[in-house]
Amino acid sequence: MFERMREDIQGVFHRDPAARNAFEVVTCYPGLHAVWLHRAAHALWTSGWKWLARGVSNFSRWLTGIEIHPGAVIGRRFFIDHGMGIVIGETAEIGDDVTLYQGVTLGGTSWNKGKRHPTLEDGVVVGAGAKVLGPFTVGAGAKIGSNAVVTKAVPAGATAVGIPAKIIVKGDDGLEAQRQAMADKLGFDAYGVSQDMPDPVARAIGQLLDHLHAVDNRLEGICGALGKLGSDYCAKDMPQLRDEDFAGVCKDQGDKPAA
Ligand SMILES: CC(C)(COP(=O)(O)OP(=O)(O)OC[C@H]1O[C@@H](n2cnc3c(N)ncnc32)[C@H](O)[C@@H]1OP(=O)(O)O)[C@@H](O)C(=O)NCCC(=O)NCCS
Repeated sequence: MFERMREDIQGVFHRDPAARNAFEVVTCYPGLHAVWLHRAAHALWTSGWKWLARGVSNFSRWLTGIEIHPGAVIGRRFFIDHGMGIVIGETAEIGDDVTLYQGVTLGGTSWNKGKRHPTLEDGVVVGAGAKVLGPFTVGAGAKIGSNAVVTKAVPAGATAVGIPAKIIVKGDDGLEAQRQAMADKLGFDAYGVSQDMPDPVARAIGQLLDHLHAVDNRLEGICGALGKLGSDYCAKDMPQLRDEDFAGVCKDQGDKPAA
């Protein structure tokens, strides 16, 4: 037990630059108090002392402003920064090294019994005021932006922001433009199919467009090389390949496509 308390305190130092010393952390971090009281409440809950467990949880809420249902399963080094206004539902599951800021709700969207709250895998960070609602999984290392409302699964390592939350992807502008160009060339309407969509069908279409782009490039290279050798095969037998499609390749090689 003391080992786990020690790593909880270390976890605060890792994730809050404002923490100065162990005494301050133990006495002035309501997030820590809530986690420790939850461990007691959860032990009572799983031993069948349900009312007592709810009593401890309610006392913790009164003391810290953080409401954790005693049935929630929480991993190691869970850190709640500031804490006030956090609600964690009965069937929520939280992995190791997860961080929540103030005002976060891990809630349900149905009144049915059974799993109705989210699962947060290891290393997830949920920003201040975010609401994560439903029995889906937020993958390991994912980040939820402050004030986001998340209603669908978030892949591991992704960052989700906004209402409803969308996955943001950085530094892939070129890929998006390339997919759009390929879709235009094929006469395919790619409206609404963007790389940041978690939809598996949209992702598959995006990957097909990438593959077509790669095949096209390879074909252009082959046609350029054939043209250089004096063949007019590409121009004659593959009229769908316009001259300008491989003009660049031939130009690179100091040649013109065969007529
Ligand atoms: C979501 C978050 C983790 C993203 O951090 P990041 O990976 O460094 O991303 P960036 O700051 O570079 O932002 C990327 C884009 O998302 C947008 N964005 C970031 N956070 C956002 C949020 N909460 N809501 C909506 N959009 C957000 C940025 O404006 C930026 O948009 P742009 O590319 O159009 O300019 C971070 O912004 C966040 O909200 N962290 C929670 C922090 C918190 O709650 N602190 C409380 C301390 S008391």
